[in-house]
Amino acid sequence: MIQPAISLQNFRMVFPRPKQTPFTAIEDLSLDIAPGQVFGLLGPNGSGKTTTVNALCGLIRPTGGRLSVLGLDVTRQLTSVRKVLGVVPQETALYNDLTAAENLHFHARFYQVPGGERKQRMAEVLELVGLTARQHDRVGTYSGGMQRRLALARALLTAPQVVILDEPTLGVDVQSRAALWERIRQIAREGRTVLLTTNYMEEAQALADDIAILDRGKLIARGTSAELRGGAGQYVEIEADLSPAQLIALQELDGVAALLGTPPSIRLNLKDGTGTFQTILAYLNAQQITPRALSLRQPDLNDVFIELTGRALRD
Ligand SMILES: Nc1ncnc2c1ncn2[C@@H]1O[C@H](COP(=O)(O)OP(=O)(O)OP(=O)(O)O)[C@@H](O)[C@H]1O
Ligand SMILES: [Mg+2]
Repeated sequence: MIQPAISLQNFRMVFPRPKQTPFTAIEDLSLDIAPGQVFGLLGPNGSGKTTTVNALCGLIRPTGGRLSVLGLDVTRQLTSVRKVLGVVPQETALYNDLTAAENLHFHARFYQVPGGERKQRMAEVLELVGLTARQHDRVGTYSGGMQRRLALARALLTAPQVVILDEPTLGVDVQSRAALWERIRQIAREGRTVLLTTNYMEEAQALADDIAILDRGKLIARGTSAELRGGAGQYVEIEADLSPAQLIALQELDGVAALLGTPPSIRLNLKDGTGTFQTILAYLNAQQITPRALSLRQPDLNDVFIELTGRALRD
């Protein structure tokens, strides 16, 4: 790979805890993130996503390993790292008593955006997140989704080459989420790198060019959405009253790998190859079974996660 935008080498994070054994939040995580793409770090609650983000922006010091952003070492060159990095933390920390424009102005001054460029930059980022018309309203009067959008605008104010978004659409409604997704895609189209954490598998699937799945501080899978889903096979969902004999017959059909669930809701995992769906239809027909629902499903990232861990991503 050309120089990665973000690189983690044997990152390890152990938190001391009073009167208890230390807690290992990240065991040993190595990850190279290519520039100019949206990278999705997907994992359930407590898997270590925010811990990774916090270490990358220098909020916590790694217990072990090396972290770098555009080749700059996060521990030794933090000041330089801060200049190329824009972060939207999981908890939006905006000043509610100030307007959006005032929040941005304050941030621009704090991060030393040159005076001559401030106005222009502020106008650009407000436009990007669709808040131009509301910029003079107090942030305390914003909806949650608008606040997340403003947090994104603020992170982009310094024109960072690398943008880290920790659960950017948490608590955001479906419409605003689609709008935010579009804006995130646009950042990558401009050649910048986005690291996005999420526990919405639809979000990773929709946005991320490359995905890493984290579970309990360990990397359990890595690849494009299609690559990851390729591992888990197609399946058929059937809603029908089936007799025990019919269940056995279905399970033994050519091309059926496994039967899960109990009637009236069952799932047949298919082996590779096509044609099995037709075989199942033919069998149901021959038995004069009319299912209340029948569908051939493509596995999604949640299925991948279940396959790898035996648990659902979001319980
Ligand atoms: N300062 C700390 N001291 C002790 N344990 C911590 C500390 N910070 C995080 N942890 C633990 O590390 C684990 C990972 O937490 P982290 O916030 O990184 O998860 P996450 O993947 O971001 O989860 P979520 O989806 O809920 O945001 C959790 O078990 C958490 O309790
Ligand atoms: Mg988190």
